[in-house]
Amino acid sequence: MDLGIANKWALVCGASKGLGLGCAAALVGEGVNVVMVARGQEALDAAAARLRAGAVGGKPIEIITVPADITTVEGRAAVFAVRQDFDIVVTNAGGPPSGDFRDWDREAWIKAVDANMLTPIELIKAVVDGMAARGFGRIVNITSSAVKAPIDILGLSNGARSGLTGFVAGVARNPQLASKGVTINNLLPGKFDTDRLASIYQASAEKTSQSIDAVRAVAQKQVPAQRFGTPQEFGAICAFLCSQQAGYLTGQNIMPDGGLYPGAF
Ligand SMILES: NC(=O)c1ccc[n+]([C@@H]2O[C@H](COP(=O)([O-])OP(=O)(O)OC[C@H]3O[C@@H](n4cnc5c(N)ncnc54)[C@H](OP(=O)(O)O)[C@@H]3O)[C@@H](O)[C@H]2O)c1
Repeated sequence: MDLGIANKWALVCGASKGLGLGCAAALVGEGVNVVMVARGQEALDAAAARLRAGAVGGKPIEIITVPADITTVEGRAAVFAVRQDFDIVVTNAGGPPSGDFRDWDREAWIKAVDANMLTPIELIKAVVDGMAARGFGRIVNITSSAVKAPIDILGLSNGARSGLTGFVAGVARNPQLASKGVTINNLLPGKFDTDRLASIYQASAEKTSQSIDAVRAVAQKQVPAQRFGTPQEFGAICAFLCSQQAGYLTGQNIMPDGGLYPGAF
């Protein structure tokens, strides 16, 4: 299926690996020009080089890297110095650490809220009016299944991301945006095979004196699909949310999780 977004411009945050890279790759596969952001320049440039090497034949795709911390004012300024009129924005940054809520002070909360709530809101604010004026815009926020099914030790993520979810539910339904072809949706990953997931299971293995393979096997068995998702699968869903065909889909929380969430809705 042709998603009808070739030659559009996308900003993909947290794009050097994992889910962000999966989204960037899927968009590049659709002929979208991409600005990729991550803090570590080496991994970012290497990821961009891999995407350029595999870019769909014949399509004149541009891939630009911006090594920056997207959660800072300076980082966002560096991105918008490169380009302002994005058609597609995928917001993403590292998740907050897990732990015991008794150990989190105000600073820990401010950091989580800054990265996982205020940064996406700042990015949305910076682009939506331009998108509406041009008659097309797609924003996809990578959040977490923990928004819908909160996990005790991920309190910082549950809290900060719920704030973003509430904001998005309102702004996506703003008629001045929704009637002008601008959609805003959240993608809530369940368990996807990325470095982030590996580091969580590594910590769990060390804590419980088990092998990481044993911890991964138990986690996979909990998923009805009996496996973790791949960044490619995640990217394909993101690309569809950015498609012309998804123009009537806004303000939604889409949860790719292999059936892990047990509810009907
Ligand atoms: N994987 C899962 O199963 C899963 C499940 C639920 C939720 N999530 C959430 O989904 C998001 C992506 O997860 P992932 O598994 O893809 O993580 P990952 O494999 O650790 O990749 C994170 C990416 O984001 C970049 N990044 C992190 N902080 C950044 C910042 N401040 N500014 C710019 N780039 C930044 C990283 O590069 P640099 O470090 O070089 O900046 C990297 O490219 C996270 O928020 C995570 O909590 C993931």
